[in-house]
Amino acid sequence: MARELQAFVFIYLPGETVAVPAGVFTLYPDDGIGRFSYGRRYLERRTAVPVDPVALPLGTRTREVSTNGGLFGAFRDASPDYWGRLVLAADAKVPPEALGEMDYLLRGNASRAGNVDFRTSLEQGEAEGGPPAFRSLRDLVKAAFALQEGGSVGPDLLRLLEQGSSVGGARPKCTVELDNALWIAKFPAKGDVLNYPRIEHATMALAKRCGIAIPETRLADVGGRDVLLVKRFDRKKTARGYLRSGFMSALSIADWDELDRAAWSYPVLADRMRLATLARPDQIRELFRRMVFNVLCRNTDDHPRNHGFVHGARGYALSPAYDIVPTPARPGVGTDFALSMTLGAEGRAATLKNALSLSPRFGLEVREAKKVVAGMKAKAARWEKHFRALGVSPADTEAAGASFALATG
Ligand SMILES: Nc1ncnc2c1ncn2[C@@H]1O[C@H](COP(=O)(O)OP(=O)(O)OP(=O)(O)O)[C@@H](O)[C@H]1O
Ligand SMILES: [Mg+2]
Repeated sequence: MARELQAFVFIYLPGETVAVPAGVFTLYPDDGIGRFSYGRRYLERRTAVPVDPVALPLGTRTREVSTNGGLFGAFRDASPDYWGRLVLAADAKVPPEALGEMDYLLRGNASRAGNVDFRTSLEQGEAEGGPPAFRSLRDLVKAAFALQEGGSVGPDLLRLLEQGSSVGGARPKCTVELDNALWIAKFPAKGDVLNYPRIEHATMALAKRCGIAIPETRLADVGGRDVLLVKRFDRKKTARGYLRSGFMSALSIADWDELDRAAWSYPVLADRMRLATLARPDQIRELFRRMVFNVLCRNTDDHPRNHGFVHGARGYALSPAYDIVPTPARPGVGTDFALSMTLGAEGRAATLKNALSLSPRFGLEVREAKKVVAGMKAKAARWEKHFRALGVSPADTEAAGASFALATG
C-alpha cells in the first residue's frame, strides 16, 4: 500500500515570534503527490495569511500538488538542501539518502528559510535552541570540514552545526547570531581551489555598484580562512525573539518544477511578477539588472532557487540578491556560455544582446534597457580594481578574469 506521511504545518504570523498551526500536509512519497488543507480555526483568524501565496491561497478546499515530489513550493523552500541534509543525516547516523523528504521537513529547525514550520503533532512546541553564536564559528568550520572529509564530529558540535544548517543550498554553511541579527556564514568548501567566500563578497559588492540590492555582507577571519557572512533578510530580532518573514524562491513564485529547466525563464518570471498584484515595476527592472549582471560576471548558477521573494509590509517582493558568484572559466576557451534560465529570444545564451532582446517584458523600452546595460557594463568593467581593493588575491583575481570577459569586452 502506498505510504501516507503527515505533518502539521505551523506558521509564524507577521509580528509573532511563536508559530500557530495552519493546516495539515499529507505526502504520498511513492506517488510524489502532496495534499494540504487549512485548519478551520486558522481560517477563522483575522490575521491568517497563506502559507504559500501561489499554490495555497486561503480557503477550505484541499489542494494537491504533483510537481517537485509532492512538495508545495514554500515547503520545499523551507526544507534543507544538500548541505543541511548532510548535517541532519550525520546527526541521525544514517546516509543522507536513507531519509525522505518528510524526514527532512520535520527535522529542519529554527534556521530554516521563511516563516513555516513542520511538526509531528499539534502539541509540539517551539524547537529548542536557535542558531549558534558567532563565537562558535571556528569550531563550526572545523566540524564542516570534518563532515566533508567523511570524518566524525562529536555529538555536541554536530548538534550546534545542525542548529544553524536548515537553510538551503549545497555549500557548507551555518546560520549564526551576531550583533542582534542572524547571518548565513558561508564556509570554504573541501576541494575549493579559489577563495570563494572572498570572491562572493567582492562580486556581491560589485553587484551593489551596478544598482542591485544585496543584503549586508561581511568577511570573518576564522583561523586564517575567510568566511562570508550574509545577513538574513527573513529574520528580525525583537525583545520577544526573532520575527520570521515568508520566503518563496522564484521556482515557487513561478510554479516551476525543479527538474524542468526548459521552463525556467527570466521574462516568464517577470510576467508572473507583473500578474501577481504584489509586483511593482521597479522590481521587474531590478530582475532585469540581476539577469544582466549574471551575464557580466558569468554567474551560470542562477537557477530559480537562487532568486528569492520575501514577505514585507507590501506583500511579497523580490528579496535582496544572494549567491552571486562568477563561474570559473578558462581564458579563450569556450567563451560562449549559458545561464540557467532563459534570458531572451536566444534562450539561455549568455550575451548582452540576448538579455536586451525582450526588454519590454521587463518594463523597459529598448533605448532605456540599452542605457541600463551600458551603465552596468561600465561599472562591471572595473571589476579587477574592485576585487583587488577588497583583498581578493592576485591569483584569484587572475582566475576570475575570463568570467568577466563580457564586462570588459
Ligand atoms: N541573506 C539571506 N537571507 C535569507 N535567506 C537567504 C539569504 N541568502 C540565501 N538565503 C537562502 O539560503 C539558501 C542558500 O543560500 P546560497 O544560495 O547562498 O547557498 P549556496 O550553498 O551557495 O547555494 P547553491 O546550492 O545554489 O550553490 C538560498 O537558496 C536561500 O533560500
Ligand atoms: Mg544558492
